[in-house]
Amino acid sequence: MHHFSHDDSGALLAESVPLVKIGAEVGTPTYVYSEATLSRHFSVFDGAFREVPHLICYSVKANSSRAVLELFAKFGTGADIVSGGELARVLTAGIPAERIVFSGVGKTREEMEAALVAGILSFNVESEGELLVLGEVASALGKVAPVSLRVNPNIDAKTHPYIATGLADSKFGIPIEDAPRLAQEVSRQRSLSLVGIDCHIGSQLTSIEPLLEALDSVLALVDVLRAAGHQHIEHVDLGGGLGINYKGETPPHPNELGDAVAAKMAGRSERIILEPGRVIVGNAGLLLSRVLYVKRTKDKTFVVLDAAMNDLLRPALYGAHHEIWPVQKHAGGESIIADVVGPVCETGDRFAEARKLPALQPGDLVAIMSAGAYGFSMASSYNSRALPAEVMVSGDRFSVVRRRQKIEDLMRDETVPPWYGTESPKGGQP
Ligand code: LLP
Repeated sequence: MHHFSHDDSGALLAESVPLVKIGAEVGTPTYVYSEATLSRHFSVFDGAFREVPHLICYSVKANSSRAVLELFAKFGTGADIVSGGELARVLTAGIPAERIVFSGVGKTREEMEAALVAGILSFNVESEGELLVLGEVASALGKVAPVSLRVNPNIDAKTHPYIATGLADSKFGIPIEDAPRLAQEVSRQRSLSLVGIDCHIGSQLTSIEPLLEALDSVLALVDVLRAAGHQHIEHVDLGGGLGINYKGETPPHPNELGDAVAAKMAGRSERIILEPGRVIVGNAGLLLSRVLYVKRTKDKTFVVLDAAMNDLLRPALYGAHHEIWPVQKHAGGESIIADVVGPVCETGDRFAEARKLPALQPGDLVAIMSAGAYGFSMASSYNSRALPAEVMVSGDRFSVVRRRQKIEDLMRDETVPPWYGTESPKGGQP
């Protein structure tokens, strides 16, 4: 459930704020988030696991904006991070180090050091090579690194191949059959301690069965490891992945997962960790954009927006579907079938193909829905387009939480080689 809806006059509101007001005052393209939706999604997800000792480690990559992180920090969330940048962000937002898990197949020594110094809850280790480097880095700092082995349970998450991570041919995780050997390696090293077992099988899952299958595999592994003498396993981390409704999907309610997990964890001592991203933020944000042109060719109608694939990459990268809503509905208005595209010089810069829409005119505002997850966090400045602004809405208030990037910002970190000023160029055009 989210708090974006049209009122009786056909105006689209974010909570009680008309989006036309945000469009006029902040400009477009702009990401708009609903605080009430973020709060509700967080508390529903957290509440779903009330029967079991648990920790929610919000997956920061889904939306790492400061206003989102600080809101979740107030709720007492933990964080699932994948880089030194995300570590710095979550610590700055006030998420305590002892609630942070660090995932990812390519952690650098510097990132490991920063996380060890901060004192994070666990490193989700994804290979033997990484384990050995972590041991070295921890030993050099005189610390003990808490390790959770991320295993790959070889389960088909039945999702888009780009976001499936639990099959044997994936770059993620340690083949589950190798885990006992790596656990022995952890025991051998004084600078490592095995505190958990972890998995993440994919994203935008619309059924809980693959997650439960993964949990069964992980729990069976924990039992084997305990029997082999690894007594310090404190947690089992099931990763993230619960899907949302983009286009009429019917993903399971978090309670369904919570109840099933509680049943499997009954009588066990481990705490369960979850790393949800999309399910919390996905439907809590939209991308507000303005129609620049309506272009008609012999075969097609194109609605050209001022937002593009650099602002919201999901449709171009995954062929993902996002609903597109008019910001002002007109009763009984005509409709068109159009491709909705952006200004970037790529054929793939398309938000929708042959979509039925109200007859839009240049200057009209539209909302690209379900853009709160992997929206701004995947934005780039391709085509030298400045990054969009972000706005947080709460009730009848709104605040710009990231100003629109300026063109000067785009060029700020660049320079030219010093010899450009002293030598005349060789070659080139006369
Ligand atoms: N934990 C780990 C280790 C992950 O790799 C991910 C997502 C999550 C948790 C959170 O998954 P979620 O609950 O959001 O499904 N850019 C893609 C999604 C990539 C997901 C990457 N990993 C998209 O826009 O669909």
